Amino acid sequence: MSRLDSAIRRLQAQRACLDRAASLIVGVPGPVVELGLGNGRTYDHLRHLLPGRAIFAFDRQLDAHPDCIPDAAHLVLGDFADTLPTALQRIGARAALIHADTGTGEAARNARLAAWLAPHLARLAAPGGVILSDQELTGLADEALPLPQGVAAGRYFLYRKGDERD
Ligand SMILES: C[S@@+](CC[C@H](N)C(=O)[O-])C[C@H]1O[C@@H](n2cnc3c(N)ncnc32)[C@H](O)[C@@H]1O
Repeated sequence: MSRLDSAIRRLQAQRACLDRAASLIVGVPGPVVELGLGNGRTYDHLRHLLPGRAIFAFDRQLDAHPDCIPDAAHLVLGDFADTLPTALQRIGARAALIHADTGTGEAARNARLAAWLAPHLARLAAPGGVILSDQELTGLADEALPLPQGVAAGRYFLYRKGDERD
């Protein structure tokens, strides 16, 4: 497979997972959290999919396309280590959907960040809420959902937080 084929597959998988995640949160109240605004591509897709939802985007710096910059009330800049512990106060309610797109080419760093993120994301998600991640969140393994058809295992990771009344 050429690198172009591989990039196209990765983006198709990402889009399929975002589409699935959006359909899973129908009926789950709460805002959306985008961790890793980056260029703003997935943020832009989420706001097309979920026009009625508040979307809060987190990143250590602002590097997004000018058309994909959230307003100041919905943009949280700083390292996740500083912004996530107070994210619930900042966004005002637990999230119906958290999309974590935080990976770099550095596998060890990705794994360290994913291990740190898992409990923070579990606390931030609403009961019944969905967590979609480009990295495996091993702490949430019990809550894993199957991926959309055609998305290779390990390309993306989908979780649904249990209803706390259970
Ligand atoms: C793969 S990019 C996100 C791409 C973006 N979702 C898009 O579609 O354009 C990952 C982003 O995560 C951010 N990031 C990674 N680790 C971070 C950390 N510890 N704190 C804050 N931001 C972080 C990086 O700055 C980068 O913009």
